[in-house]
Amino acid sequence: MTLIASLNLAKESDAIRLIEAIGEDDDLGYPSAATTEQADQSWTVDVYFEDAPDEVALARVVAQALGPDAGAFTVAELPDEDWVAKSLEGLKPVRAGRFLVHGSHDRDRIQPGDIAIEIEAGEAFGTGHHGTTAGCLEEIDRLGKIHDYKSILDLGTGTGVLAIAIAKAWEKPVLATDIDPIATRVTAENAALNGVGDKIEAATAEGFGNPVMAARAPFDLVVANILAGPLIALAPEIVQHLAPQATVVLSGLLVAQGPGVTAAYEAEGMKLVRQGEQEGWLTLTLER
Ligand SMILES: C[S@@+](CC[C@H](N)C(=O)[O-])C[C@H]1O[C@@H](n2cnc3c(N)ncnc32)[C@H](O)[C@@H]1O
Repeated sequence: MTLIASLNLAKESDAIRLIEAIGEDDDLGYPSAATTEQADQSWTVDVYFEDAPDEVALARVVAQALGPDAGAFTVAELPDEDWVAKSLEGLKPVRAGRFLVHGSHDRDRIQPGDIAIEIEAGEAFGTGHHGTTAGCLEEIDRLGKIHDYKSILDLGTGTGVLAIAIAKAWEKPVLATDIDPIATRVTAENAALNGVGDKIEAATAEGFGNPVMAARAPFDLVVANILAGPLIALAPEIVQHLAPQATVVLSGLLVAQGPGVTAAYEAEGMKLVRQGEQEGWLTLTLER
């Protein structure tokens, strides 16, 4: 039995904030969730549960993320189907720089000159629809035109979308790591699907807690689309694993969190050289 908890919100930024909060809440058991724009330009957050959800925890997460007046989830039963994948089937392909991130149902939308990345939405984060992923893809496309990186780490790889973008665009090997073993499995599958299985090594690690990190360091490019808190906590270790001349691309932070994250990396000797905003999310580029 699959249950769907739905809440309609006026603003996309609230829907994004809520989905992030749901993804971080231990009591909810890290359920799959999706946001969908409605015809009236409101946004629905759908959360999928295999068993009856903890409705007290759901209400608490809504109130903490959006305040006491944000409304309440309604829970309904769905017939058995892969509802996460189904809800995402309708997603349109996303363009970011030269990259086109698309599902298998949109292969015919690939144009000459596109660097196509096929990602089946479902078990891990990173379909290109989130402003953080799109911001990183645009920055990767830009950086590839002015740098020739040799040792590359995608920290918090999710579906592997950024690692696949790098491997396809630059024909370079990438180490792709994630704290979540499902994400690293999905990354290996997606890398093979996209013809770059030989270029991407997927490894499970919290931060740098896997010997493969030391073995593959020093890195001259690190991309990390995580969240502001972990990015700040990881600043010393990320910088310790860098080559003398290196670039770090950070995303997963809201505009208001930019100064705090930048300060953590400046304290480690990095310099902010660029920042871009997509849908309220920042992508920072730092160098040393
Ligand atoms: C926002 S998703 C980004 C996915 C993909 N890189 C993208 O840009 O769409 C963040 C990913 O970081 C992973 N993550 C969170 N904290 C981490 C940590 N301390 N070490 C490694 N991975 C982490 C999560 O499991 C999740 O898959």
